[in-house]
Amino acid sequence: MSDAGDSRVHGGSAVAAPREEAFEIHLAWSEATLTVPPGRSALEVLIEAGIPIEPGCQTGGCGMCATAYVEGDIVHKDACLTAEDRKRYFCTCVSRGRGRIVLAL
Ligand code: FES
Repeated sequence: MSDAGDSRVHGGSAVAAPREEAFEIHLAWSEATLTVPPGRSALEVLIEAGIPIEPGCQTGGCGMCATAYVEGDIVHKDACLTAEDRKRYFCTCVSRGRGRIVLAL
C-alpha cells in the first residue's frame, strides 16, 4: 500500500525553529557596514570588527552588551531591558535587526 497523497508527517518532531535572517549593521560614525548572518550574533560580528563591547551572559539576561541604535527595526529577544530602554538600546548578544539598522558607533 502506498502513502502517496497522504500529507500527514509520520514519526519524529516536525517543529521547525524560527528561521533567522541576515541583517546589516551600519556604523554611523565610521561609515562601515557589517553583515550579521543567520546563526551569528550582532555581538560576535561587532567584536570581530574591533568594536569594544563587553560580553556578559550572552543570553540576553544582563544588559552588558546593550548598544544604542539610532535607526532600524529591532527584534528584541533580551529579558533585561525595559520598554523604555528598548526604544534606544538593544542587546547585541540575542536581539536582531530586520534589514538594516544604524548604530551610533
Ligand atoms: S551579554 Fe548579557 S544581555 Fe547580552
